Amino acid sequence: MGLHIGSIAPDFTQDSTAGTIQFHDWLGSGWGVLFSHPKDFTPVCTTELGRASKLKPEFDRRNVKLLAVSVDSVADHQRWIGDIEETQGVQQAFPILGDPDRKVASLYDMIHPEANDTLTVRSVFLIDHNKKIRAIITYPASTGRNFTEILRVIDSLQLTDTHSVATPADWTDGQDVIIVPSLKDPEVLKQKFPKGYTEVKPYLRITPQPNK
Ligand code: BEZ
Repeated sequence: MGLHIGSIAPDFTQDSTAGTIQFHDWLGSGWGVLFSHPKDFTPVCTTELGRASKLKPEFDRRNVKLLAVSVDSVADHQRWIGDIEETQGVQQAFPILGDPDRKVASLYDMIHPEANDTLTVRSVFLIDHNKKIRAIITYPASTGRNFTEILRVIDSLQLTDTHSVATPADWTDGQDVIIVPSLKDPEVLKQKFPKGYTEVKPYLRITPQPNK
């Protein structure tokens, strides 16, 4: 069965550069980003892991843990981390799962045989505090991910959860947002959006970001 937005993120126990990880326990009560790398000692992945480590404080601020997976052994990962730290100028700040048996890659359908039948594509799974998958983003091996975009999606999801709003195209934190169309009760609207809103169309109601 394929994984979709709304599926419970499959649990697993797997070795990592920070010891054995039992995924659901490791996530605890926070959010997580599980993201795959096609292979160790590859250039794009090296830059991605450096960038994600540099942005770790931003993920921490949102109560989101980072976990990478690559279909090589933990021993290989440890040697690769030396290169990442040397070339990217940052300490590896989160665990990398070993996956030589492709257990996690298979569980999360990270191998796309038409692209490559042994290496993973660049999958990103955003998982919330209920272990529910909230977003799935997939890139080809040749395209490094934009971790600022991943933070932006997390901001949007967390804002939807707390304030009943959706975010428009190209939105970034602090900009106006959209009141979800299902919210219609005038009293509730007044209480939830004390700064008011602009009704461009009955289905398009713009309001300042409520938590700013
Ligand atoms: C890379 O990380 O640089 C890479 C990995 C697999 C295929 C192409 C690029």
